[in-house]
Amino acid sequence: MPITKAVQKLEAYVPGEQPKIKGIVKLNTNENPYPPSPRCAKALAAFDLDRLRRYPDPVFAELRKALAVLNATGPENVFIGNGSDEVLAVAAKTFVEDGEKIGSLDPSYSLYKTLADIRGVPWKGFPLPEAKAAEKENVSLFLWTNPNAPTGEFVSKRKISAFAGKFRGVVIVDEAYADFAEENCMELAARRGNRNVIVMRTFSKSYSLAGLRVGYCVGPADLIGAMYKVKDSYNVDAVAQSVALAAVKDQRWMRRNAAKIVKTRTWFVSELESRGWDVLPSQANFVFARPPAGNAAEIFERLKKRRIFVRYFSGAKTAERLRITIGTDAEMKKLLKFI
Ligand SMILES: Cc1ncc(COP(=O)(O)O)c(C=O)c1O
Repeated sequence: MPITKAVQKLEAYVPGEQPKIKGIVKLNTNENPYPPSPRCAKALAAFDLDRLRRYPDPVFAELRKALAVLNATGPENVFIGNGSDEVLAVAAKTFVEDGEKIGSLDPSYSLYKTLADIRGVPWKGFPLPEAKAAEKENVSLFLWTNPNAPTGEFVSKRKISAFAGKFRGVVIVDEAYADFAEENCMELAARRGNRNVIVMRTFSKSYSLAGLRVGYCVGPADLIGAMYKVKDSYNVDAVAQSVALAAVKDQRWMRRNAAKIVKTRTWFVSELESRGWDVLPSQANFVFARPPAGNAAEIFERLKKRRIFVRYFSGAKTAERLRITIGTDAEMKKLLKFI
């Protein structure tokens, strides 16, 4: 067969459903219920179609500069990808030798294992990561999701810094959900003398731009420079660069929506708890919660019949809970009626 053995064996990552039905309550892929900044609409309307005749800027100079300023670092410290998923794929090609491993929390974002499979190296999960234990396992790239997904749990900057300080490999702190959290690790990535910390962000969650496909990371110039060598020449299209730039320039819009979501989360958690659910403390735009009767799979199906989509992961460490994205107050009220 012309398909490689590795790909024949590969278990593909399964993204959350994107149903085409109108009028559904969609709380299954941690998207933002609020629209992107009006500046994005303006940027799209003003986009000169003639620009599409040409290739986009391969090194995204303008967007990169704006992200460098936003994060108090230099353009040479910023890499941008077609979603943070692509940033992760580039990192897996850049920082892992044959025979080494990719490590992450367990449970965590299930794409990490698929990336390791595609790269042809083992993945190793750690409930509580320790640098020594990770190195003993020959891990050269550690993907530390913070706040974690699907749990929503948060680890302090101090702890991640301590881990990275002792770890010889590269630590990517996947901060897809950091704008909903009380603290983040960007300072570790941007500070002088940083050897191995890369902090990754996305436009898909707090900026309400999951459909645009833009993610980025900040880190030491030598590591970031190496990622540029590996990426596709034109990995971020011209429209995406232009709309993302407009979104970066409207921090107030993003912050206001993130604050609304955090407020809804606090109220929704107390509603779930008053119904006897066990909710892990979340600093993300979702909660990971166990129903009192332990019937997560059944509630998942029941909600689906009502056109309310949440996420259910059948694995041993996740099967008792549902991951519920925080939507608008009205969406959460509707869900509460059926559980
Ligand atoms: C932890 C984590 N990292 C990365 C991503 C991917 O984000 P993007 O849309 O930027 O590819 C997700 C998406 O759900 C996520 O949960």
